[in-house]
Amino acid sequence: MKTTLPEVSGDVAFVTGAASGFGLALSKELVSRGASVIMTDINEDGCKKAAAEINEKAGKTAAIAVKVDTTHFEDQLSAYELGKETFGRVDYFFANAGITERQWLPLFDPTTSSSRPITKPNATTLDITLDGQLNTAALALQVFERQEPNPRTGFRGKLVITSSLTAIWPVKGLSLYCAAKAGVVNFMRATAAYYENKGITINLIAPGLTATPILPPNFAALFDDNFICPVELVVEQMISVLGSRKDNGRTICTMGKEAWDNVPHDPMFEKARVQYEKMEYEFGKGMGLWE
Ligand SMILES: NC(=O)c1ccc[n+]([C@@H]2O[C@H](COP(=O)([O-])OP(=O)(O)OC[C@H]3O[C@@H](n4cnc5c(N)ncnc54)[C@H](O)[C@@H]3O)[C@@H](O)[C@H]2O)c1
Repeated sequence: MKTTLPEVSGDVAFVTGAASGFGLALSKELVSRGASVIMTDINEDGCKKAAAEINEKAGKTAAIAVKVDTTHFEDQLSAYELGKETFGRVDYFFANAGITERQWLPLFDPTTSSSRPITKPNATTLDITLDGQLNTAALALQVFERQEPNPRTGFRGKLVITSSLTAIWPVKGLSLYCAAKAGVVNFMRATAAYYENKGITINLIAPGLTATPILPPNFAALFDDNFICPVELVVEQMISVLGSRKDNGRTICTMGKEAWDNVPHDPMFEKARVQYEKMEYEFGKGMGLWE
């Protein structure tokens, strides 16, 4: 596995949700490949402990831990500034932190609904899993704009977003989680196309069910082994788009031990392609994105 992945030695990554699951495994793997990592998480103790272990194994300061609530843009900006001070620049941003569905609406029950007031929905899932990731993206794109390309890779920077297979194949009842995960897919597609040829790439990983602490205890054991993704496979896909790789706008899905690209257009799109591209051009012109 290690030989086929791009060179990342000497590069610097900013990872959200780095105290646990994919973010932690990714941070470890990047450091083992010679990169440095700004590990950020709302779980400060977990993040500090993980960074200390990584540094002990590396025999140097290859990771720093910073408390970040991704819903606060300022937290992410301060963590980036500290990371830049420590490591000089940031080549990769991983918008990874997320939570599963928190109850959005009271449970459907027409027998009691008339006696209950209509309430404001609980949007916590969207706040963290969509807006928090978009904060990371907004930071990354502005940082990349302000730094020269890395002389080894030729890129200003690369953004990698952790979505979910539930973005492609919705799961009944996980309404806000699926909305958040699908939201970042189309955000990535629209945005990666705009940054194409600007020295910036944006790609997305959409993992299937994986046994990380985001799942309830023993949840993964309920499913067939060939449905559950190994954490290493997801991390490998995250790293596969780094370094000097030109990949941009990819939605890499995983299920079990398989990885594949989901493509955005169904066959009907061919009937609309020319008009659609004209629409894209006219909207962009109106926003001043191009002449
Ligand atoms: N495990 C799966 O089956 C699976 C599948 C598809 C996608 N994902 C996605 O992968 C990403 C990582 O999840 P994981 O499986 O590693 O879970 P995890 O719970 O192990 O890790 C998530 C980390 O994010 C942190 N976090 C939560 N809210 C935060 C906030 N507001 N600010 C900063 N950090 C915050 C948590 O403290 C935790 O350390 C998430 O976006 C998740 O939706 C997971």
